[in-house]
This record gives sequence, structure tokens and C-alpha cells, in this order.
Amino acid sequence: MNGQGAVIMPTLHGSRPDQATGLRQAMNPPALGPMSKVQVVAVSSGKGGVGKTNVVVNLAVASARQGRKVLVMDADLALGNVDIVLGVTPKYTIEDVLSGHQRLSQVLTPGPAGIHILPATSGGQEFSHLNYEQQLHLQSAFLQLPDPPDLLCIDCAAGISANVLYFSLVAHETLIVVTPDPSSLTDAYALVKILSTRYHLRSFRLLINRAKNVQEGKEVFRKFSLVTDRFLTLRLDYVGCIPLDDYIGMAVTQQRAVCDLYPRAPSSRAFHTLATHVHQWTGDPSWQGGFQLFGPAAMAATQTVMEG
Ligand SMILES: Nc1ncnc2c1ncn2[C@@H]1O[C@H](COP(=O)(O)OP(=O)(O)OP(=O)(O)O)[C@@H](O)[C@H]1O
Ligand SMILES: [Mg+2]
Repeated sequence: MNGQGAVIMPTLHGSRPDQATGLRQAMNPPALGPMSKVQVVAVSSGKGGVGKTNVVVNLAVASARQGRKVLVMDADLALGNVDIVLGVTPKYTIEDVLSGHQRLSQVLTPGPAGIHILPATSGGQEFSHLNYEQQLHLQSAFLQLPDPPDLLCIDCAAGISANVLYFSLVAHETLIVVTPDPSSLTDAYALVKILSTRYHLRSFRLLINRAKNVQEGKEVFRKFSLVTDRFLTLRLDYVGCIPLDDYIGMAVTQQRAVCDLYPRAPSSRAFHTLATHVHQWTGDPSWQGGFQLFGPAAMAATQTVMEG
């Protein structure tokens, strides 16, 4: 790795400076129409197994129940499991899009509550680091979607690989999932640190999963933000918490989203609150959506990671 990405990378988040605005205008001609309204939310974590996939699929189902058109992208490109968690059998995967064999619209697989899924491969190493051409190909596939969603939820792999950084950078919102487990906090700190110091990403949202109660969620946020406030220059917003809930495991076993199978479970209620918050983020007067964020700046930044 080298530090060049930090120099060329405009912040793609929060109070975006002129460089980012220029990039958006250049890539967002009026012809994009409804495409320019898509909200892109990346769900990341440092540590694996903290609940990202469950957050993504339940945020998607809850948002769809609230009337939004939702697309879930499984961005754990080599070891994806959104299809398994939702019990769907995709005919095609992102591999078919990236190889040019299928159009994105043909690969999208229907899921519960009317959501659609862009499935990943499982076990293939080929896409664990998207190269520049593959990133361009993906960007262009999204831009050509005839019927774009309102919300694109990206389920990232754990860790700080180039793909995780890329998808975190292209999103409007980077939602970091942690649990009260201290090692999930140290790993999340490593992710936030690299995104903020190297790529100038300045705005993050923290979601506490598996919290025993609301107090524990708030306390975890307080501890984490004490450290980020002290050592990093960024804005961290508390999104809320998802309770530790046996219904999630029961739903996973039945390959259904808990929001779908047990809508009255405590976690399902929390996911509905999360979906409401996510929708409200688009109410900010300065908010601009669009797939145009899959742009050259994020690509250049993550290529720097890969070359290093
Ligand atoms: N709030 C919760 N309460 C109880 N169990 C949970 C909760 N959230 C997640 N789990 C359980 O934790 C396990 C891991 O969840 P999940 O697969 O969503 O994590 P992940 O972060 O996507 O993992 P990976 O990093 O491997 O992609 C699942 O078996 C799920 O049932
Ligand atoms: Mg996962």
C-alpha cells in the first residue's frame, strides 16, 4: 500500500467538498433521471460474523415493507451467502455480469417482500479483488439498469480488503456493524481508521448488533466514539441497536429473514426502526442519490490499495 490514494481521493461522504460535487455533476447528466435517486448503503464490519448479512437482508425486507424498491448486492464476492440466508436459488451471479455473459437486470434474483438480490459467487477467488476494468463494468451495468431501486444495500465482506474499501467508498452511507465483543470494536476501529486516514471518508454510522439492551448499545457506542474522537477526524453517528434475539438464529435455520418469518420478534421491530432511519437520511436537503458514485475516484483509490 502507499499513501497516494489519500491525495487523489475526494471525500465521497458527509459534507462533500467541491471536488466531489464536480465529480457528481460530471457523472450525473440530467438523462440519468430516476437513476439519480438511488440511495446506496454499504454495510461493513472489521470482524467477521457480527451480523452484517442479517442486517442487510432484514434492512432490505423492512424497507420493502415500508414501500421502497430494494436491491441487495452481495459484495462478499468470493464467499457470498445472501442467497443461502434467504433460501433463494439464483440462476446467475455477479460473475455472469462481470464476464459479460448476462445483463445485470437478468441476474437480479427475486427475494422476499419484492426485494431483488445480486448474488455473489461462493468459493470463487477470482473476484475477491475487483480490478479497474471490473469496477468500470459494474458501474456501467448499474447505470444501465432499466428499473433502478430506491435503495441499494451492499453486504460487504469482513475486514479491510480492497473490495470492502471500494464498496464503502462508493456508498452514500457506510454502516459499520459491531457487537459488544471488544474484538469486534478493535477490528471496526481498524476499518474506520484506514477509510478515514487514507481515503478521507469522514462520515460513518455505527449499528450495535447483539445488544442485551438499549443501555448496552449506547454504552458500546460511547466507548467506541471516545476512541475515534480522540484519534481520528471523522463524524460517527449512532444508528441504534439490534437486540440479541434467538428468533434471528431460528429464521437463519429456516433460510428466511427474521422480519419476514417473525415480524413481531424484538429484532424485527428494531430492523423496522433501522429502515425508517435509513429512509430519513435521504430527507437531508443536501442529499443527492445515484449510482454515479460508482465513479473513478473510488476506483483509483482502491486500485492504489491493490497495487501497494
Ligand atoms: N442480533 C442477533 N441475535 C442473535 N443472533 C444473531 C444476531 N445477529 C446475528 N446473529 C447470528 O450470528 C451469525 C452470523 O450472522 P451473519 O452471517 O449475519 O454475520 P456476518 O457479519 O454477515 O458474517 P460474515 O462476516 O461471515 O459475512 C448468524 O448465525 C446469525 O444467526
Ligand atoms: Mg455475511
